[in-house]
Amino acid sequence: MVLNALEKSKKVILTVQPFPSRCEDGFTCGLVTGGSSGLGLATVERLVQNGASAVILDLPSSDGAALAEKLGERCAFAPADVTSEADVQSAVSLAREKFGKLDLAVNCAGIAVAFKTYNFKKDLPHSLEDFQRVINVNIAGTFNVIRLAVGEMGKNEPDADGHRGCIINTASVAAFDGQVGQAAYSASKGGIVGMTLPIARDLAPMGIRVVTIAPGLFSTPLLAGLPEKVRSFLADRCPSPRKRYTLLFAHLGKVFILLKPIKCTIPPFIVKTIKL
Ligand SMILES: NC(=O)c1ccc[n+]([C@@H]2O[C@H](COP(=O)([O-])OP(=O)(O)OC[C@H]3O[C@@H](n4cnc5c(N)ncnc54)[C@H](O)[C@@H]3O)[C@@H](O)[C@H]2O)c1
Repeated sequence: MVLNALEKSKKVILTVQPFPSRCEDGFTCGLVTGGSSGLGLATVERLVQNGASAVILDLPSSDGAALAEKLGERCAFAPADVTSEADVQSAVSLAREKFGKLDLAVNCAGIAVAFKTYNFKKDLPHSLEDFQRVINVNIAGTFNVIRLAVGEMGKNEPDADGHRGCIINTASVAAFDGQVGQAAYSASKGGIVGMTLPIARDLAPMGIRVVTIAPGLFSTPLLAGLPEKVRSFLADRCPSPRKRYTLLFAHLGKVFILLKPIKCTIPPFIVKTIKL
């Protein structure tokens, strides 16, 4: 990841801060799902580099263990599937046991498939199994993490503004502008958008903020996993698809963290990222 000079200098300063510590965003510990790759990894790096702790929640087969070791004592790996209650509960408990509290959860775990509803050339319908798998990981997995993470956040002492924690979900521009072949993916991201407001209303009385971001294209392993034809098709709809925007995503997360609601009068919001 490319860091500019300012960030490099911050990194040096922050490594000598007492541990555990809060990052400049005001958070102590973030649980980041899908934290061993792409946008999730950028968010983990952002948290650790800025003085917070991070728990990488990712599949046992991921690089999470090696990455956590590389990132140092303020990072831990929780091998987990977001769709498993037991796995996610263990990850939440790990955050409390290792870093004292959990006050941020960033949902980045996600999967995608690209297939038309019906391929008339091959006389083949979209696989129902694939559709259900995407819905399960992207919607149910996100909800599973939220519902268990907030149980832990609810135990935090509220800050001066009455806030106990923050949830950041990752939808996609496909939630609003799905392309050919994105029925499953768009449905899953639309589901995340749809549940954001009721969840935010559920959790507002406890001072837990909920936001969902809907980014455009990023060059990550998720995108690389799609067929070249699909990548080119999507890229044609994005002015600069070949750049790495993971750092931008991490900064975007920070933007949300910094946007503290004014006495809960601002409703939860959903923002489409700017396509650069
Ligand atoms: N890359 C893009 O262009 C783009 C655009 C908009 C939204 N998004 C969304 O951003 C999020 C992150 O995407 P990315 O591009 O960084 O993808 P990525 O493939 O680089 O990372 C996704 C991570 O999720 C993990 N994961 C998958 N299934 C899991 C499960 N069941 N339990 C736990 N972990 C699981 C993977 O192991 C991987 O580490 C996804 O939700 C994706 O839909 C990506």
